[in-house]
Amino acid sequence: MEKTKLRHLFEQMTFQEKIGQLVQVSPHFLDENPEEGTLTGPLQNVIMAEEDRFVVGSTLNTQTREQAAAIQKRFLEKSRLKIPLLLMADVIHGYRTIFPIPLALGASWNPALIEEMAALSAKEASSEGIQVTFSPMVDLVRDPRWGRVLESTGEDPYLNQVYAEAFVTGYQGTDLEKDHEKIAACVKHFVGYGWAEAGRDYNRVDMSEVELHQNHLPAFQAAIEAGAKLVMTSFNVFNGTPVTANKPLLETVLREQLGFDGVIISDWNAVGELINHGVAEDHTQAAQLAVAAGIDIDMTSYSYIHAQEELAPLQEAIDASVWRVLNLKNDLGLFENPYRGLTEEPIDTEALRGEARKLASQTLVLLENHDQTLPLKADTAIGLVGPFSQSQDVLGSWSLMGDPSQSVTLEAGMKPYARQLQVAPVAETTAISASEWQAIHNVFATSETLVVALGEASRESGEGASKSDITLHPVQIELLKQAHATGKKVVTVLFNGRPLDLRAVKQYSDAVLEAWFPGTEAGNAVADVLFGAVNPSGKLSMSFPYTTGQIPVYYNQIRTGRPLTEETKGYQYVSRYLDIPNEPLYPFGYGKSYATFELREIEQSTTELDPDGEIHFSGLIKNTSNYDGTETIQLYIHDQVATVSRPVKELKKFQKITVPAQSEAPFTFTLIEADLRYIHPDLSNHADPGLFDVFIGTDSLAEKVGTFKLLEGGKG
Ligand code: GLC
Repeated sequence: MEKTKLRHLFEQMTFQEKIGQLVQVSPHFLDENPEEGTLTGPLQNVIMAEEDRFVVGSTLNTQTREQAAAIQKRFLEKSRLKIPLLLMADVIHGYRTIFPIPLALGASWNPALIEEMAALSAKEASSEGIQVTFSPMVDLVRDPRWGRVLESTGEDPYLNQVYAEAFVTGYQGTDLEKDHEKIAACVKHFVGYGWAEAGRDYNRVDMSEVELHQNHLPAFQAAIEAGAKLVMTSFNVFNGTPVTANKPLLETVLREQLGFDGVIISDWNAVGELINHGVAEDHTQAAQLAVAAGIDIDMTSYSYIHAQEELAPLQEAIDASVWRVLNLKNDLGLFENPYRGLTEEPIDTEALRGEARKLASQTLVLLENHDQTLPLKADTAIGLVGPFSQSQDVLGSWSLMGDPSQSVTLEAGMKPYARQLQVAPVAETTAISASEWQAIHNVFATSETLVVALGEASRESGEGASKSDITLHPVQIELLKQAHATGKKVVTVLFNGRPLDLRAVKQYSDAVLEAWFPGTEAGNAVADVLFGAVNPSGKLSMSFPYTTGQIPVYYNQIRTGRPLTEETKGYQYVSRYLDIPNEPLYPFGYGKSYATFELREIEQSTTELDPDGEIHFSGLIKNTSNYDGTETIQLYIHDQVATVSRPVKELKKFQKITVPAQSEAPFTFTLIEADLRYIHPDLSNHADPGLFDVFIGTDSLAEKVGTFKLLEGGKG
């Protein structure tokens, strides 16, 4: 619609209709007989008056194309100005066909794969009437006790930036108005939600301005620069003030510094929860605070509806919010076609499942493989035991319309490959019955190789699913110990939504494959890797702690004034634990392959970098095995002397290279001054002249390969 017509429409709106545009309701309020719909949790007993219902601006998480079509049709019939409804949803890692959880996608180190996943998700969701997704989630997370770590792409600000851009590009494409297979992206949760104190969901978040700007804003910046149409605010307080009422954060940082001019939507009931936070006495004050802070859409707290008259003094802010919402609908082409990508019939999900299988196999991380235990031989007598041997609980949290009954079990995936496969399933992740033990021991006795499928139930990660202990349930460790005690080869496959303490798994396994929650095609993707049809190439995007007590542990730590080094390890007064090492069990960037690789002849083009110049690091990667394989070469820097203490390593470049067996390939990385910039105490972002060490390797333990000097005159 032309802007002038849109402005004309805006000017016809009553104040109540304007408030309505800023309200998001659960779809059941717009169903045929809403009184039948009951809300649970904080919003139970909310009943909406008829006149409030058909002026709202959006709804979320409709269940079917029929419901979406019926709601939009009914809405347009009843809306005075025929302003179409926005239909939003949590399309986090798929809509109905489910892809691996984002923490698994983060292990792909393949932005193109993320973009493809997002595009496929958008295609399926838009065909069922969804127009906006509450994704990507770009929260920086270093605490795996926090259940929502599964929704993140890991601990590194740079990698999160790369992925954030890929998600948004995949969801939105290049012409959102006309390409109805694309949906608008809502980047979340602004800001710091993953920094929850003690890893306990919704808990306090407090950090310095330097920490915020250095590590948490870059991924939001990347999503916004990629064109994300919405930002969702987070539940938490930020430095004392709930984000939902934090005007400086939303106005100065998000709007002005990051340049975001799209729609800001609160999280679920977060406006109403300003009362729980103790900064609002009632829904009216909560609404006033949120409107004044710049929250455009109140997601399901109904505070804006409650407070209509009292919001009149905030008319200017209300008008600005309404204008942004109308423009979002216009950018989606809804005035011309309110049903947008909705199709009469389901799209071809078989094709989607094929893509899901292929993508999932690239997210699996081979953590151990002693004596080439993997890949499994098809003619081996294989015993498959454990709670995930036949489980369909493999979609992971936030799998929206995904139907577990449609997911492929590990047994089903392995059957086509194995000549002899015996299975002894375990129903629960927290108990093994006597009859189950009996079956397990029978399988132990008649198998040559044992595959032990362990993990967390999907309900153990996700929202409201923080844990104080990241070890597997003891009964699963007992199962693994007994498998190990048979003296047969033991392959452990893990289904989990967070980094775990895997010391026992490492001790009692010959091979360990981290499968995360691989989605609808789980069993096929895992079997493709177990039997060597796919050579694993995943690399951890988040450290696996040695133990819960080591949290937070991450590769880009600072040295401290008393670093633990070879020289200082004999002293008492250094930064260390008395009972465990400083290093994680598995580091950021780590993952094995069936192939073996060597990096050779690494050279740097200069020892001095002119601020306007480039420095190149080149070398060869040789595949010394008989397997074709894919390796991810990673380049890290260390700023030797800076205004603030800089991390011992910072990921700055990576390349995922496929190298055929017994051959080699060249690689080159280029660094420029902009790659060396960091946030100074005055929040300026620039590089200082001086010495930088460079590390190149296949995980964050990469060796130093050189040092160069950035010359004076760096850009500010
Ligand atoms: C949830 C989550 C948020 C999600 C929203 C809508 O509570 O915090 O990530 O998008 O509500 O379901």
